[in-house]
Amino acid sequence: MKPVTLTTLKEMKRRGEKITCLTAYDYSFASLLDRAGIDTILVGDSLGMVIQGHDSTLPVTVAEMVYHGKCVARGVKRAFLYVDMPFMSYQESPQRALASAGRLMRQGGAKMVKLEGGEPMAETVRFLVDRGIPVCAHLGLIPQSVHQLGGYRVQGREAADAKRIRHDAKVMQESGASLLILEAVPAELAKTITGDLAIPTIGIGAGKDCDGQVLVLQDMLGIYPQPSPKFSKNFMEGAANIDAAVKAFITAVKSGSFPGPEHSYYSSDDHG
Ligand code: KIV
Repeated sequence: MKPVTLTTLKEMKRRGEKITCLTAYDYSFASLLDRAGIDTILVGDSLGMVIQGHDSTLPVTVAEMVYHGKCVARGVKRAFLYVDMPFMSYQESPQRALASAGRLMRQGGAKMVKLEGGEPMAETVRFLVDRGIPVCAHLGLIPQSVHQLGGYRVQGREAADAKRIRHDAKVMQESGASLLILEAVPAELAKTITGDLAIPTIGIGAGKDCDGQVLVLQDMLGIYPQPSPKFSKNFMEGAANIDAAVKAFITAVKSGSFPGPEHSYYSSDDHG
Protein backbone atom coordinates (compact mmCIF):
# COMPACT_ATOMS: atom_id res chain seq x y z
CA MET A 1 0.00 0.00 0.00
CA LYS A 2 1.93 3.00 -1.30
CA PRO A 3 1.07 6.32 0.37
CA VAL A 4 -0.49 8.93 -1.91
CA THR A 5 1.79 11.94 -2.48
CA LEU A 6 1.53 15.17 -4.44
CA THR A 7 3.45 13.41 -7.23
CA THR A 8 0.78 10.68 -7.27
CA LEU A 9 -1.95 13.34 -7.62
CA LYS A 10 -0.17 15.10 -10.48
CA GLU A 11 0.32 11.75 -12.22
CA MET A 12 -3.39 10.94 -11.74
CA LYS A 13 -4.28 14.20 -13.47
CA ARG A 14 -1.90 13.38 -16.33
CA ARG A 15 -3.50 10.00 -16.95
CA GLY A 16 -7.07 11.21 -16.36
CA GLU A 17 -7.79 9.24 -13.18
CA LYS A 18 -10.19 11.16 -10.94
CA ILE A 19 -8.96 12.10 -7.46
CA THR A 20 -11.25 11.46 -4.48
CA CYS A 21 -11.37 13.57 -1.35
CA LEU A 22 -13.59 13.69 1.73
CA THR A 23 -13.26 15.76 4.86
CA ALA A 24 -12.57 14.13 8.23
CA TYR A 25 -12.12 15.52 11.70
CA ASP A 26 -11.44 12.50 13.92
CA TYR A 27 -9.51 9.23 14.14
CA SER A 28 -12.38 6.76 13.55
CA PHE A 29 -13.74 8.38 10.39
CA ALA A 30 -10.23 9.06 9.05
CA SER A 31 -9.35 5.41 9.49
CA LEU A 32 -12.60 4.29 7.79
CA LEU A 33 -12.01 6.63 4.80
CA ASP A 34 -8.40 5.55 4.50
CA ARG A 35 -9.28 1.83 4.56
CA ALA A 36 -12.06 2.44 2.00
CA GLY A 37 -9.41 3.75 -0.41
CA ILE A 38 -9.98 7.50 -0.47
CA ASP A 39 -7.05 9.28 -2.18
CA THR A 40 -6.96 12.42 -0.07
CA ILE A 41 -8.43 13.60 3.23
CA LEU A 42 -9.01 17.25 4.08
CA VAL A 43 -9.31 18.44 7.67
CA GLY A 44 -11.51 21.33 6.62
CA ASP A 45 -12.36 24.35 8.71
CA SER A 46 -15.92 23.28 7.84
CA LEU A 47 -15.49 21.61 11.24
CA GLY A 48 -16.60 24.96 12.65
CA MET A 49 -20.04 24.19 11.21
CA VAL A 50 -20.40 20.39 11.12
CA ILE A 51 -18.54 19.59 14.38
CA GLN A 52 -18.88 22.76 16.45
CA GLY A 53 -22.30 23.96 15.24
CA HIS A 54 -21.32 27.52 14.29
CA ASP A 55 -23.06 29.13 11.32
CA SER A 56 -19.75 29.84 9.56
CA THR A 57 -16.10 28.75 9.58
CA LEU A 58 -14.91 32.07 11.01
CA PRO A 59 -14.61 31.12 14.71
CA VAL A 60 -12.21 28.21 14.08
CA THR A 61 -8.69 28.59 15.52
CA VAL A 62 -5.29 27.18 14.61
CA ALA A 63 -5.25 25.25 17.92
CA GLU A 64 -8.53 23.55 16.94
CA MET A 65 -7.21 22.68 13.48
CA VAL A 66 -4.06 21.25 15.08
CA TYR A 67 -6.17 19.16 17.48
CA HIS A 68 -8.39 17.71 14.72
CA GLY A 69 -5.44 17.30 12.35
CA LYS A 70 -3.61 15.25 14.97
CA CYS A 71 -6.66 13.02 15.58
CA VAL A 72 -7.13 12.43 11.84
CA ALA A 73 -3.44 11.80 11.16
CA ARG A 74 -3.45 8.88 13.60
CA GLY A 75 -6.05 7.13 11.43
CA VAL A 76 -4.39 7.70 8.05
CA LYS A 77 -1.90 5.30 6.47
CA ARG A 78 -2.34 5.78 2.73
CA ALA A 79 -4.34 8.92 1.90
CA PHE A 80 -2.70 12.32 1.39
CA LEU A 81 -3.69 14.51 4.34
CA TYR A 82 -4.09 18.27 4.14
CA VAL A 83 -5.39 20.79 6.64
CA ASP A 84 -7.15 24.15 6.34
CA MET A 85 -5.56 27.38 7.54
CA PRO A 86 -8.39 28.98 9.53
CA PHE A 87 -9.68 32.55 9.24
CA MET A 88 -7.09 35.20 10.20
CA SER A 89 -4.27 32.70 10.61
CA TYR A 90 -2.64 33.74 7.30
CA GLN A 91 -4.28 36.88 5.90
CA GLU A 92 -2.22 39.35 7.96
CA SER A 93 1.23 38.60 6.52
CA PRO A 94 3.34 35.85 4.94
CA GLN A 95 5.24 35.56 8.24
CA ARG A 96 2.02 34.98 10.18
CA ALA A 97 1.00 32.39 7.57
CA LEU A 98 4.35 30.63 7.96
CA ALA A 99 3.93 30.41 11.74
CA SER A 100 0.39 28.98 11.38
CA ALA A 101 1.33 26.56 8.60
CA GLY A 102 4.35 25.42 10.59
CA ARG A 103 2.10 24.45 13.52
CA LEU A 104 -0.34 22.63 11.24
CA MET A 105 2.49 20.61 9.71
CA ARG A 106 4.64 20.05 12.81
CA GLN A 107 1.84 19.36 15.30
CA GLY A 108 -1.30 18.82 13.19
CA GLY A 109 -0.13 16.08 10.82
CA ALA A 110 -0.64 18.19 7.66
CA LYS A 111 1.31 17.31 4.53
CA MET A 112 -0.05 20.43 2.85
CA VAL A 113 -2.02 23.46 4.02
CA LYS A 114 -5.00 25.04 2.28
CA LEU A 115 -5.81 28.73 2.14
CA GLU A 116 -8.56 30.76 0.52
CA GLY A 117 -8.15 33.57 -1.99
CA GLY A 118 -6.54 34.49 -5.29
CA GLU A 119 -3.98 37.06 -6.42
CA PRO A 120 -3.87 38.96 -3.08
CA MET A 121 -2.60 35.69 -1.52
CA ALA A 122 0.07 35.09 -4.19
CA GLU A 123 2.96 36.50 -2.15
CA THR A 124 1.96 34.36 0.84
CA VAL A 125 1.69 31.19 -1.26
CA ARG A 126 5.15 31.83 -2.76
CA PHE A 127 6.57 32.57 0.73
CA LEU A 128 5.28 29.25 2.11
CA VAL A 129 6.26 27.18 -0.92
CA ASP A 130 9.80 28.63 -0.93
CA ARG A 131 10.10 27.45 2.67
CA GLY A 132 9.05 23.87 1.95
CA ILE A 133 5.34 24.08 2.75
CA PRO A 134 3.05 22.73 0.02
CA VAL A 135 -0.08 24.84 -0.51
CA CYS A 136 -3.55 24.10 -1.84
CA ALA A 137 -5.43 27.21 -3.02
CA HIS A 138 -9.22 27.55 -2.73
CA LEU A 139 -11.17 29.76 -5.19
CA GLY A 140 -14.80 30.44 -6.10
CA LEU A 141 -17.06 30.37 -3.07
CA ILE A 142 -14.52 31.00 -0.32
CA PRO A 143 -16.42 30.43 2.93
CA GLN A 144 -14.12 32.58 5.09
CA SER A 145 -15.34 35.55 2.98
CA VAL A 146 -19.03 34.64 3.35
CA HIS A 147 -19.97 38.10 4.65
CA GLN A 148 -18.10 39.88 1.87
CA LEU A 149 -19.74 37.58 -0.72
CA GLY A 150 -23.20 38.24 0.74
CA GLY A 151 -23.85 34.58 1.59
CA TYR A 152 -23.01 31.11 0.38
CA ARG A 153 -23.68 31.67 -3.31
CA VAL A 154 -22.37 30.54 -6.68
CA GLN A 155 -19.37 32.54 -7.92
CA GLY A 156 -18.20 33.27 -11.47
CA ARG A 157 -21.49 33.41 -13.33
CA GLU A 158 -20.82 36.98 -14.52
CA ALA A 159 -18.16 37.20 -17.24
CA ALA A 160 -15.96 39.58 -15.23
CA ASP A 161 -16.03 37.30 -12.17
CA ALA A 162 -15.30 34.25 -14.27
CA LYS A 163 -12.33 36.07 -15.84
CA ARG A 164 -11.00 37.01 -12.39
CA ILE A 165 -11.31 33.47 -11.02
CA ARG A 166 -9.57 32.05 -14.10
CA HIS A 167 -6.77 34.61 -13.69
CA ASP A 168 -6.49 33.86 -9.95
CA ALA A 169 -6.18 30.14 -10.70
CA LYS A 170 -3.23 30.77 -13.02
CA VAL A 171 -1.61 33.09 -10.48
CA MET A 172 -1.95 30.45 -7.74
CA GLN A 173 -0.25 27.86 -9.94
CA GLU A 174 2.53 30.33 -10.86
CA SER A 175 3.00 31.09 -7.16
CA GLY A 176 3.67 27.42 -6.48
CA ALA A 177 0.32 25.99 -5.33
CA SER A 178 0.18 22.20 -5.76
CA LEU A 179 -3.59 21.78 -5.84
CA LEU A 180 -6.64 23.98 -6.43
CA ILE A 181 -10.08 23.60 -4.85
CA LEU A 182 -12.89 25.17 -6.89
CA GLU A 183 -16.10 25.63 -4.92
CA ALA A 184 -19.53 26.53 -6.32
CA VAL A 185 -18.53 27.82 -9.74
CA PRO A 186 -20.17 27.09 -13.11
CA ALA A 187 -19.14 23.75 -14.56
CA GLU A 188 -17.94 25.39 -17.81
CA LEU A 189 -15.58 27.70 -15.88
CA ALA A 190 -14.17 24.81 -13.82
CA LYS A 191 -13.59 22.84 -17.02
CA THR A 192 -11.69 25.75 -18.59
CA ILE A 193 -9.54 26.25 -15.49
CA THR A 194 -8.83 22.51 -15.26
CA GLY A 195 -7.60 22.63 -18.87
CA ASP A 196 -5.47 25.74 -18.17
CA LEU A 197 -3.55 24.21 -15.26
CA ALA A 198 -0.91 21.52 -14.83
CA ILE A 199 -1.84 21.15 -11.14
CA PRO A 200 -4.96 19.12 -10.28
CA THR A 201 -8.28 20.85 -9.61
CA ILE A 202 -10.67 19.41 -7.02
CA GLY A 203 -14.27 20.51 -7.37
CA ILE A 204 -17.10 20.91 -4.90
CA GLY A 205 -20.09 22.21 -6.80
CA ALA A 206 -17.84 22.78 -9.81
CA GLY A 207 -19.11 20.17 -12.26
CA LYS A 208 -17.78 16.85 -13.46
CA ASP A 209 -14.71 18.03 -15.37
CA CYS A 210 -12.46 18.86 -12.43
CA ASP A 211 -9.59 16.44 -11.84
CA GLY A 212 -11.20 15.30 -8.60
CA GLN A 213 -14.11 15.83 -6.24
CA VAL A 214 -14.44 16.66 -2.55
CA LEU A 215 -17.47 16.61 -0.26
CA VAL A 216 -17.95 17.38 3.41
CA LEU A 217 -18.32 14.02 5.15
CA GLN A 218 -21.38 15.00 7.20
CA ASP A 219 -23.17 16.18 4.02
CA MET A 220 -22.47 13.00 2.06
CA LEU A 221 -23.58 10.87 5.03
CA GLY A 222 -26.74 12.98 5.37
CA ILE A 223 -26.12 13.66 9.09
CA TYR A 224 -25.67 17.47 9.08
CA PRO A 225 -28.92 18.84 10.49
CA GLN A 226 -29.01 21.93 8.21
CA PRO A 227 -30.14 21.72 4.55
CA SER A 228 -27.36 20.35 2.34
CA PRO A 229 -26.09 22.38 -0.60
CA LYS A 230 -27.36 21.41 -4.06
CA PHE A 231 -23.89 20.16 -4.99
CA SER A 232 -23.83 17.50 -2.30
CA LYS A 233 -25.34 14.02 -2.44
CA ASN A 234 -26.41 11.74 0.39
CA PHE A 235 -24.49 8.54 -0.35
CA MET A 236 -26.11 6.77 2.64
CA GLU A 237 -29.26 6.46 0.54
CA GLY A 238 -29.21 2.88 -0.69
CA ALA A 239 -26.00 2.03 1.20
CA ALA A 240 -25.93 -0.72 3.85
CA ASN A 241 -23.50 1.17 6.10
CA ILE A 242 -21.01 4.08 6.22
CA ASP A 243 -18.21 2.06 4.64
CA ALA A 244 -20.48 1.21 1.69
CA ALA A 245 -21.51 4.88 1.32
CA VAL A 246 -17.87 6.02 1.21
CA LYS A 247 -17.04 3.31 -1.33
CA ALA A 248 -20.06 4.36 -3.43
CA PHE A 249 -18.72 7.94 -3.41
CA ILE A 250 -15.28 6.74 -4.52
CA THR A 251 -16.76 4.59 -7.31
CA ALA A 252 -19.06 7.40 -8.48
CA VAL A 253 -16.21 9.93 -8.66
CA LYS A 254 -13.78 7.52 -10.33
CA SER A 255 -16.38 6.53 -12.95
CA GLY A 256 -17.46 10.12 -13.57
CA SER A 257 -21.08 9.52 -12.55
CA PHE A 258 -20.80 12.03 -9.68
CA PRO A 259 -21.38 14.95 -9.83
CA GLY A 260 -24.34 14.87 -12.21
CA PRO A 261 -25.98 17.97 -13.75
CA GLU A 262 -28.32 18.12 -10.74
CA HIS A 263 -25.28 18.73 -8.49
CA SER A 264 -23.71 21.33 -10.81
CA TYR A 265 -24.12 25.01 -11.63
CA TYR A 266 -24.02 26.48 -15.12
CA SER A 267 -23.27 29.98 -16.43
CA SER A 268 -26.82 30.43 -17.64
CA ASP A 269 -29.32 31.10 -14.86
CA ASP A 270 -31.85 28.73 -16.50
CA HIS A 271 -30.08 25.76 -14.91
CA GLY A 272 -30.58 26.96 -11.32
O1 KIV B 1 -13.56 23.39 4.94
C1 KIV B 1 -13.82 22.53 4.09
O2 KIV B 1 -14.31 21.42 4.38
C2 KIV B 1 -13.53 22.85 2.70
C3 KIV B 1 -14.11 21.97 1.65
C4 KIV B 1 -15.56 22.22 1.54
C5 KIV B 1 -13.43 22.11 0.36
O3 KIV B 1 -12.88 23.82 2.43
